[in-house]
Amino acid sequence: MTSTTSVPVLRPQRVAERFPILQRTVRGRRLVYLDNAATTQKPREVLEALQRFYSHTNANVHRGAYTLSEEATAAFEQCRERVAQWVHAPDPRGVVILRNTTEAINLVAQSWSRRLAPGDEILTTEMEHHSNLVPWLMAAKERGLVLRHVPITEEGELDLAAFRRLLSRRTRVVAVTGMSNVLGTIVPVPELVEEAHKVGAIVVVDGAQLVPHQAVHFGQLGCDFLAFSAHKMYGPTGVGFLVGKPELLEAMEPVLGGGEMIREVFLDRATWNDIPHKFEAGTPNIADAAAFPAALGFLEELTFEAIQAHEQDLTAYAWERLAGLGGLTLHGPKNPSRRGALISFVDEHIHPHDLATVLDTHGVAVRAGHHCAQPLMRRLGVVASVRASFAVYNSREDVDALVFAILAARRFFGLA
Ligand SMILES: Cc1ncc(COP(=O)(O)O)c(C=O)c1O
Repeated sequence: MTSTTSVPVLRPQRVAERFPILQRTVRGRRLVYLDNAATTQKPREVLEALQRFYSHTNANVHRGAYTLSEEATAAFEQCRERVAQWVHAPDPRGVVILRNTTEAINLVAQSWSRRLAPGDEILTTEMEHHSNLVPWLMAAKERGLVLRHVPITEEGELDLAAFRRLLSRRTRVVAVTGMSNVLGTIVPVPELVEEAHKVGAIVVVDGAQLVPHQAVHFGQLGCDFLAFSAHKMYGPTGVGFLVGKPELLEAMEPVLGGGEMIREVFLDRATWNDIPHKFEAGTPNIADAAAFPAALGFLEELTFEAIQAHEQDLTAYAWERLAGLGGLTLHGPKNPSRRGALISFVDEHIHPHDLATVLDTHGVAVRAGHHCAQPLMRRLGVVASVRASFAVYNSREDVDALVFAILAARRFFGLA
């Protein structure tokens, strides 16, 4: 691993020791987990925090005037505080605790679209995950809105000239990913925000892939809403966040009704709780939220400086090794500083699903398929690809194991 003396060095093998699941074998081989863009594995401290919550603190939140409920509420609210600090949100009231990125984007799409008029435009991109496309398609259908899409360049970057052309006074929302889960492309969000705000559009950023890999500053990003999931950043499944500007959240109507989100209920009407609670109907995922700060503590200890240096190095190494194999098409920008820690590729002779199945026999876990981005796959002219995505515990040895397994697959199919 290359690193300058000033950047703290991350030792992936040492990091891996902190993940019980990485000690197991798969089909008699060491597990090489390279599906981190789908979900990351969880370090021991997160597992312990979950166990601790259920064995010590468990109670419902914001309800009981007894010790357990107060402690559970404090743990849940501590998650909100920590997330607000993590992304430098102006106010913890702007952090809505939900299930995942998908739910967070659906909330904005459903609620904000009620404020729009037929013919108003939503601008998304060709590289969106279905989570940042389908909610807008649904809103557009319901409200008579027009959806437009920014194309990508041949290199797999967002076509910024086309973005400027498509942006107009009719654009009310720009919904864009911070980092593509297929191409790895890192999108210049602040540039887009500047342009979008000039025409009075709000900007919703799908941060599912960005927030796990970079220090994100909500104010510097400049967007109005940012969505991300705990499970892609070493935290538990079932917890995700919508970070929004408090004044915008205040102006929005809730989309789910029930307990927690109300102030007063009569038989014929109801009034809403303050933000963020008015968007958190019903019993939330208390235990997983309570355990998430342990994942943030883990990331903090490693430091993003070290994480980024490590992941960039690993991605550049993987690119070099995969490109060196020949017969593979690699998608997305080649420049490691313009992409995140994943590489999608297609073998000219082996179907991605077949390749992933053979890789699994070597203990190598990768994702094969359309990666919930069917329009992008059509644009790339493929039905599926294989994606290797990296995390703090992956090493060059893992990349070597991937390459070895691809060569083995080629032999298995009689291609080498
Ligand atoms: C870019 C992107 N957006 C959204 C999502 C959806 O995340 P979740 O399933 O946690 O809602 C993913 C998940 O893979 C993703 O990669």
